[in-house]
Amino acid sequence: MLKFDVLTIFPEMFHPIVNESIVKRAQEKKKVSITIHDLRDWTNDVHRKVDDRPFGGGPGMVMMPGPIFDAMKKIKGKRKAHVILTCPGGAPFTQAKARQLSKKKNIIFICGHYEGVDERVREELVDESLSIGDYVLTGGELPAMVMIDAVTRLLPGVLGKAESLESESFEEGLLEYPHYTRPADFKGKKVPAVLLSGNHKDIQAWRKAQALKRTQKSRPDLLKVRP
Ligand code: ADE
Repeated sequence: MLKFDVLTIFPEMFHPIVNESIVKRAQEKKKVSITIHDLRDWTNDVHRKVDDRPFGGGPGMVMMPGPIFDAMKKIKGKRKAHVILTCPGGAPFTQAKARQLSKKKNIIFICGHYEGVDERVREELVDESLSIGDYVLTGGELPAMVMIDAVTRLLPGVLGKAESLESESFEEGLLEYPHYTRPADFKGKKVPAVLLSGNHKDIQAWRKAQALKRTQKSRPDLLKVRP
């Protein structure tokens, strides 16, 4: 079982992912557990303050280290856990990273906010910072949900055979080939004949060529050989 813990100032945001669909089923099947922790439970003042102005000046607010350190001491305890900070400046979250994370036993997300998180949190508590894309969201909650979803569906026994992971987008460095189902003729739009031919070799070759064509068109960067 993979245990996710999430430290956030918006615990309610996680209800849809924790309580719905495949991620919900994965919890029922004991493939994952997800515990959401409210960072404000580790504040001591009446305003339940988690942020303050940056030293050195500048715009915005910075998440204070105190509540995060206290929360992490309690949440992590003596366990070995992989701690991820969600922030736009992190390394890119990819399918390969999702696969890597799916091998872990304990993952803790710290959801970043405001201008950022006090650097001592990153230095002392965080194993890696991850970003879900080159854009800035209002907080790290959606990124944590995205990562929980992408990792959970890779765990053995979470997806049924029908939702097989083989040859889906990114798994072979290519986007997925086009899919068709009944009817074979939809308002005059016909399914490519090769898919009805029963010739598996031809079908495979067609799918590979289509995947390449699609990748070339939408994501040519995936085809570049990296140094
Ligand atoms: N927080 C704000 N924007 C983010 C992003 N793109 N990825 C991860 N965390 C974020």
